[in-house]
Amino acid sequence: MAIDVGIDRLIRPEVATVGGYVASKSPDTLEGKVEVPVEDIIKLDANENPYGCSPRVNQALASYPYLNIYPDDGQTELRKLLAGYAGVDAGHIVAGSGSNQLIDLILRLLLSNGDEVINCVPTFGLFRFSTELCGGTLVEVPRDENFALDVTAIKAAISKKTKIIFLVNPNNPTGTITPRQDILEILDTGLPVLVDEAYYEFSGQTVVPLVSQYDNLMVLRTFSKWAGLAGLRIGYGLFPPKIADYLLRIKIPYNVNVAALVAVRESLKDINYLMGATKAMIAERGRLFAELEKIEWLKPFPSQANFIFCLVLNGKASQLQQGLQDKGILVRYFDTPRLENSIRISVGKPEHTDALIKALREIGEKLNV
Ligand SMILES: Cc1ncc(COP(=O)(O)O)c(C=O)c1O
Repeated sequence: MAIDVGIDRLIRPEVATVGGYVASKSPDTLEGKVEVPVEDIIKLDANENPYGCSPRVNQALASYPYLNIYPDDGQTELRKLLAGYAGVDAGHIVAGSGSNQLIDLILRLLLSNGDEVINCVPTFGLFRFSTELCGGTLVEVPRDENFALDVTAIKAAISKKTKIIFLVNPNNPTGTITPRQDILEILDTGLPVLVDEAYYEFSGQTVVPLVSQYDNLMVLRTFSKWAGLAGLRIGYGLFPPKIADYLLRIKIPYNVNVAALVAVRESLKDINYLMGATKAMIAERGRLFAELEKIEWLKPFPSQANFIFCLVLNGKASQLQQGLQDKGILVRYFDTPRLENSIRISVGKPEHTDALIKALREIGEKLNV
């Protein structure tokens, strides 16, 4: 007989109410539930890179001899490599198992119970998730109808308890770019500001050169998108050196595995290849946007990232997502107060765009929209 020790009583109250993060679906879990074999599923729901990683990464990992040895906990080589790519001194860099891990780490460093975090919604869901887990209080500042930041409202939301302001540039899921002047104005508040540049390579806009000038600026980047390494989990942040030191001190040991280190090493030797794929996605983003604009019941928003956000003007986004999934095409849908009846479509290869547009037209006819 099972003994009930009342586990629920033991859970931290601020954690007990956390709903969890809704991650993208793994195609394997859809076996038998969609009209196509799993290997033919077109995955446009998590902004991954359809061209994959550099072939050099596959080759190097196939023969890597030291999987039995822990990685360098101080990330010496990794920090140097990442610093070289980003154009800063290695003292500014901390690497994480995905940039997501660094969001969690920054909040653990800064937040005490009840401290406030300013979040400009709608935006990346992980900020809410990690803030709640760390016992912080979210102060949500709405973006305007075109999803631009409202700098005046952000400044007005600052209180004595504010510990950090989160910005994503370009924003996920809307693709919106924030003008540099707005970021500068927010930096001038003197509060810690985190600019998540996960999609930098698709936008070309960055505040990284400012990291050495501002001791309240933190920037996050990732190899998940442009470098096609989402599965290996490697991201990094650029911080004022003092914050970098603290983060290195409080991270779990060996937080980035050796496969990720090898992958960064090889990716950076193959920048031309990776930038070729990135350019192809940028070109395809333009074509996808033009095709989506032709569908009368969708309203796509201009994007500087590798995805396009669309309002569904007629019909339900949830049904549309399900209809596409049945046909083996995965997209993300949203139905929350700040993201009503909308979908986000990652930019794929040209053939993925063709299949998506065909499926959208078929579903549109069937749903009579
Ligand atoms: C804004 C933003 N930051 C971070 C990430 C995740 O990056 P990583 O895979 O490096 O954890 C994503 C992924 O979708 C994202 O959209």
